[in-house]
Amino acid sequence: MIRAPKPADVTPYAEAVRRSAEHVGRWNPVEPDGLVDLLERQGPGLRTFLIVDLDTGGLVGKCNVANIVMGRFCNGALGYDSYLPFAGTGRMSEGMRLVIDRCFAPQEAGGLGLHRLEINVQPENDRSIALAKRLGFRHEGYAPRMLFLAGAWRDHERFALTAEEWEPLSAS
Ligand SMILES: CC(C)(COP(=O)(O)OP(=O)(O)OC[C@H]1O[C@@H](n2cnc3c(N)ncnc32)[C@H](O)[C@@H]1OP(=O)(O)O)[C@@H](O)C(=O)NCCC(=O)NCCS
Repeated sequence: MIRAPKPADVTPYAEAVRRSAEHVGRWNPVEPDGLVDLLERQGPGLRTFLIVDLDTGGLVGKCNVANIVMGRFCNGALGYDSYLPFAGTGRMSEGMRLVIDRCFAPQEAGGLGLHRLEINVQPENDRSIALAKRLGFRHEGYAPRMLFLAGAWRDHERFALTAEEWEPLSAS
């Protein structure tokens, strides 16, 4: 299941990030205390979802829907991490489908009302590219020096999906 983060998640989140530091750290900053800041920044431009394992209540992963711009764009950028012991078990893919479904659902139905989602991935990040493709994202192009990560401006492959390409989960 997916849900918004809350203050009670700060400690379990820190533990999950710490034990997953090696797996996450090659591609994304490892910030065990980062949920405090994320909770403060939630708003029209940023929505965070935690992906939670229904059987155990454990934290499978986190997805930020960032850079949300409405108006004629209705666009957001997905950024995500999965956490041990769930990484590589398929739960993250399942959770991301729920996040995407919520992003495209109309606001009247509790969704974000977005029309386009993008995922920007470093070219060597095979697992993230596999996830983007598994979720149905199209390769759109290559963005040189797009994001400042681990001390340098990193090139990214850009993937995107529009609402027309997504079959709502309620319809399947
Ligand atoms: C990118 C990332 C989020 C992908 O998450 P993940 O944990 O690999 O996602 P999943 O668990 O859904 O992985 C699916 C894998 O599990 C396998 N799997 C195992 N059991 C499965 C099951 N029951 N159902 C579906 N897939 C299963 C799949 O075969 C797939 O493996 P493959 O890609 O080698 O074929 C994760 O690797 C990560 O956090 N990386 C570090 C941070 C990062 O790179 N973030 C993105 C920056 S752009």
